[in-house]
Amino acid sequence: MDAKTRLCCLIGNPVGHSLSPMIHNTLADELGINLCYTAFKVEKDRLHEAVAGADAFDILGMNVTVPHKCEIIKELSDIDPLAARIGAVNTLVRVDGGYKGYNTDAIGLYRELEEENIIIKDKEVIILGAGGASNAITYICADKGAAKIYLLNRTFDKAKKLADDVNSHFGDVVVPLAISDYRLIPEGKYPVIQTTSCGLYPHNDDAPIYDKEFYELVEAGVDIIFNPAKTMFMKLCKESGARAYNGLKMLLYQGIAAFELWNDIKVPKNLADKILGMMERKLKES
Ligand code: ATR
Repeated sequence: MDAKTRLCCLIGNPVGHSLSPMIHNTLADELGINLCYTAFKVEKDRLHEAVAGADAFDILGMNVTVPHKCEIIKELSDIDPLAARIGAVNTLVRVDGGYKGYNTDAIGLYRELEEENIIIKDKEVIILGAGGASNAITYICADKGAAKIYLLNRTFDKAKKLADDVNSHFGDVVVPLAISDYRLIPEGKYPVIQTTSCGLYPHNDDAPIYDKEFYELVEAGVDIIFNPAKTMFMKLCKESGARAYNGLKMLLYQGIAAFELWNDIKVPKNLADKILGMMERKLKES
């Protein structure tokens, strides 16, 4: 580090277990970019001060995590149209007069899908969950041209609300259902994205749905959870003969997309793979 080192950071609460510093500091080292990344715990009522401070220090970029992803929007000087539609921002990029907000969570998931050869355009897909993570994912699937999205949630009303919201931008693409009503989905094989918090460590044996009949619908399953590395949802997908992936690549690619925005570069695939390996090892140690 020297007097020209640019700073990027994560703000949220908690931030202590984040893998983002490892992702960004490795990218900077490997690409020879004079940039350093750290994490700051920011309390809910101090978000405005945190952004004003970052602005004063000319911090190059920030990632934003829970609980600030929606509240941060009123602190921005500009916002990417997809992030505005989603209503949540996880990446801030330095621009004249402040920060522009993006949602690279959605971009990260889409890159993971592309890499695993899971096609969304003109396809019918199933999304489990209707919380904050599902919001970004449902929007990006609609934005990338899904023919239909079956949005299944334990609480039907939340699925209906998110479906209405997305449909107001994209036409009648999202069909909300209670999870227990999955039998209303026509027979076939679908990409299924699991966005609920069910199955997250230490509740490794939990899945939002156990019925074998449901898993007959799965062509490829993607769980956004990465700890544990193999969730119960993924095991059930595999038992029914489907491919299954965890959310580690989504996490990696949301970081890479942010790094690319901050530095106006493209990260090579071999470097992305190297960092994925480091993340896997780090999770195994923890
Ligand atoms: P996030 O930001 O991680 O999406 P969230 O906004 O709290 O978190 O949403 C959590 C999601 O996981 C919701 O869809 C929730 O379903 P409800 O809307 O019915 O609460 C879902 N979820 C959590 N625990 C679940 C469980 N045991 N079974 C099924 N769905 C569950």
